[in-house]
This record gives sequence, C-alpha cells and structure tokens, in this order.
Amino acid sequence: MMDERYILKTYNRLCLDIDKIRGNYIYTKDGERYLDFFSGIAVNNLGYDEDIIKAMTEKMQNYTHISNYFCDDDRSELARLLIENSIDGRVFYTNSGTESSEAALKLVRKWGKENNKHNILTAKNSFHGRTTGALVLTGQKKYQKDFEPLISGVDYFIFNDADSLNAMVDDNTAAIFLETIQGEGGVVPLTDTFVQTLMSLKEKYNFILVMDEIQTGLRRCGTMFAYENYNIKPDIILLSKSLGGGLPLGAMIVSKDLENVLGNIWREPCSMRRWPCSYKKAYG
Ligand SMILES: Cc1ncc(COP(=O)(O)O)c(C=O)c1O
Repeated sequence: MMDERYILKTYNRLCLDIDKIRGNYIYTKDGERYLDFFSGIAVNNLGYDEDIIKAMTEKMQNYTHISNYFCDDDRSELARLLIENSIDGRVFYTNSGTESSEAALKLVRKWGKENNKHNILTAKNSFHGRTTGALVLTGQKKYQKDFEPLISGVDYFIFNDADSLNAMVDDNTAAIFLETIQGEGGVVPLTDTFVQTLMSLKEKYNFILVMDEIQTGLRRCGTMFAYENYNIKPDIILLSKSLGGGLPLGAMIVSKDLENVLGNIWREPCSMRRWPCSYKKAYG
C-alpha cells in the first residue's frame, strides 16, 4: 500500500480500503461495513453525519481560509457559544489539541514572569500533546525521553494524590495543568477529595488552573465540560478534537482576568479605514 511506502511510520495503521464513512459506519470499496468505535480518537463525537458534511461544505464554498486579520461571523458565534457555556472571558483558536496546550503554556509562563511565579505543575501519566512544549506537560517518560532536554520549570505530581500536590504547590507555582479524566493514564476521573485540596491550594497560592477538556469536553461526559461535575471554574479551558468534528480546530478559553496577558492590540473598531493602523500595531 502507498501508505506503507510514503508515510512516516509513527502510527500502526489499519489499511482498510475506505470508500466513505456515514453515520457510525465505515464502508470499504469492496462492500464491507464496519461499526466505528474509534470515533477518530474522540474527534467524531457526532459521527460522520450528512449535516456535518453539509455545514463544512457550505462554508468552504464561500472560502477555504480567512486569516486572523479578518472578522468571521461563524468564528465569533462559536466563541460566543463557548463562552456562554463555560467561563466569562475570551477564546483563542488553534489548529489542534497540542497547540491549545502550547498556547496555555505560553500564557501561564508570561503571567508567571509578571507575577514572580516560575514553576508549572502537571500530573504524572497525563497527556496534553506531543509538540515540544506540550510534551513537557505530558507526564510520561516514554514520550519524553528521546526529546530531552525539555523545557525547564515543570514538575510532576501524582494524579489524585492530595499529599503529593500539597508537597509541591507553593508561592512559586504559576499554573497547574489537569485533565478531568486522565485518558491515556487509564481513564481515571479526578476524585472529589483531590479537587477539594486543589481548590483550597488555589485559594491560598493563587495559581492558574488549566483544565484540559480536549478529550472530555463538549458533552462527552454528559455535561458540556467534565469539570462541571466538580463544581469548579477553571481559569483556562483547552479544547480541540470534537470541536472541529474532523477539521483541524482547537481553542483555548481564557477567563476575563487573564484575557490581556498575551497582549491587547486591537483597540480600534473593525473597519477597512482603520485596519492598516491595527496592522501596523501588530507588526510594529
Ligand atoms: C487530553 C488530551 N490533551 C491533548 C491532546 C492532544 O490533542 P491533539 O492530538 O489534537 O494534538 C489529546 C489527544 O489525544 C488529549 O487526549
């Protein structure tokens, strides 16, 4: 197969001769039908429905791409829906889950510098992505070992172990990255006791709580976001996977308190006459 010849062998692939995928079924060119339990690794939460294909096609018939320097009603509408269903703040769009983690890593680093907090904590056995920055947040040696040295200033606590967390959090803690349910770590949900300790430490030490809802978000666990089951409000929420339903799309939702950390250059109303001036500001 061409796949075997031309694609880097970083995944072990099932080479079905796929003709199309509809609803929950994969159809092969030789007429076989498979029920898809993969769901694109939590990407196709709504299946491969005709409505999704129609919405994607309609949009692409208008344009396939629009840069960040233009407004787009659909982009704003999705941001409104995300904010109204999560925390009051703003949305930063990305192309993948790992990029959402990268964006949050940069934000908390910058906030940490400004607030004299230089350490980031993440759980052992966590998964937050594979790119160079996100890899340091993914607390698994097997993914990290070949790419060391990794970014410094990140330590690892034992997931669901309140004593381990207690021993590591202090005034130097800028942020904690956490999955509501560790996926790669064995499908392990956070315990209430651990979350109580986490929130009382947050109250005492004022760090940023980043919840990774890339796999658990958007009703995959019943509520819109899995963190709602713990009655907590994160400062940052990471999304991707089912958000795009197959298109490369991710998001970082940032609370109002943090919305200016990565900059605030857009002060002008969006209009053609004003635009060159915003453009100049962006590029200096
Ligand atoms: C919890 C979690 N965070 C981050 C990621 C990385 O997302 P992506 O594969 O879109 O880069 C994944 C992917 O499996 C994930 O499950």
